Amino acid sequence: MKITPKITPIYQTSVFKFEDLNELELYFGEPGSRYLYSRNGNPNSDELAEAVNKLEGGAGAIATGSGMAAIFAAIMACCQAGDHVLCAADIYGGSSALLNAELTRLGISATYVPFEQLEALQSFVQPTTRLLLCETISNPLLRVADLRRVAEECHRHGLKLVVDNTFATPLLTRPLALGADISLHSVTKYIAGHSDVTAGAVVATDPAIIARLKQIGVFYGLTLSPMESWLAVRGLKTLRLRVREHSHNALAIAQFLNNHPAVKEVYYPGLTSHPQHQLAAEQGNGLYGGMLSFKLTDETAAVNNFMQRVKRFPFAPSLAGVDSSISYPLGTSHRSLTPAQQEELGITVGLIRVSVGIEPVEELIADLEQALA
Ligand SMILES: Cc1ncc(COP(=O)(O)O)c(C=O)c1O
Repeated sequence: MKITPKITPIYQTSVFKFEDLNELELYFGEPGSRYLYSRNGNPNSDELAEAVNKLEGGAGAIATGSGMAAIFAAIMACCQAGDHVLCAADIYGGSSALLNAELTRLGISATYVPFEQLEALQSFVQPTTRLLLCETISNPLLRVADLRRVAEECHRHGLKLVVDNTFATPLLTRPLALGADISLHSVTKYIAGHSDVTAGAVVATDPAIIARLKQIGVFYGLTLSPMESWLAVRGLKTLRLRVREHSHNALAIAQFLNNHPAVKEVYYPGLTSHPQHQLAAEQGNGLYGGMLSFKLTDETAAVNNFMQRVKRFPFAPSLAGVDSSISYPLGTSHRSLTPAQQEELGITVGLIRVSVGIEPVEELIADLEQALA
C-alpha cells in the first residue's frame, strides 16, 4: 500500500539514516537530494524556506530559529570583523540591541540613520560600510521606507540593502523586487500568524549570499526545528486571507482612534494624514497592514487604566497573531534604548502599539470605546 499524505508530514527527527557509505557520498555529491542531520537541513524547514522564498520572489532562503536569528544571519552573510553597518534609527529594539551589545564585540560597528536621511547616505558611509538595515514599515511608529529609492541610494554607495519585512509581509511589499538584496522576517509574526511559533526566514537574490546564509545557519546553529517549521508552513497558507482582514480591521480602528478625544495621535499608514500615505498605498499593494500605534496622554496611570479596562486587546509584547493584542514599546521592544533615543524617536510614556487581529471589527471598536471612555 502506497501512503501519500496531502500535507508534508512532520519529520520529527534530528538525524537521517544511510544504507552505506555510497549513500553518504550521494548526499555530499548531489546537494538537496537527501538529508543528513536536521541542523543542516530538514524537509519541514526547507518547505518553509521555499514557501517564503516564493512569496518574496527570491532566489533562495533559509528558515531560522527566530527573527533575531534571521537578522544575525543576514548581517553575518555580508560582514566580517572590521566592517561597519548602517541601520535605520526607526528599527525594532532587538535589532539595535543586537548591533550595539553583540556585533560590536565581533568588530562590526553600527551607525544609525534618521528616517528622513535613508535616501541620502553620503555622510554616513565609511570605506568599510557594507549594508543598510531598515524596515519596510517601522516598529513601532509605522514609518514607511521608500525601498526603491533607498535601494538605489545603497547601491550608489556599494552597500547591500537588508530589509526587515516583518510588519509589511510580502502581501503588501516585496522588497527584492524594489531592489533590496535581502528580505527577512520574524516568521513568529504574520507569516506563522497564530502566536504559537518562534521562527525567522531570510531571502536573498545573489547565489553567493544564499550560500553564505546556508553556511551561517548550519555553523552557528540558527536553523529551525521540524515542528516549528511545520506550524509556520501551515500558518503561511492563510497569510493572504489574514493580511487582508488584519488590514481592513486596522484601518477601521485607526479611523476610530483618530476621531477619539482621548487619543492624541494615531500612527497608521492607511490614514490619509500619515506622512507617507501615498507611498504606503503604492508600495503596499493597496493594503496597510495590521499594526498601528497611538498616543494617550503621557501618563503611566492613563496607560495602565486603558490596559486594565480593555478586554479584547491583552497586553502581550508580540504582534501579528489572529487575536488582537497591545504592546508597550517603551517598556518592552524599545526598552534598551536610552531615554534620549526614545524621546527622539517619539517612543513616549503614552505610546501604545496595537496588533489588530481578525476578529469582527465592530466588537473590537466597541471594546476600545468602553476602555477609552
Ligand atoms: C520588526 C521585527 N523584526 C524582528 C523581530 C525579532 O523576531 P523574533 O522575536 O522572532 O526573534 C521582531 C520582534 O518583535 C520585530 O518586531
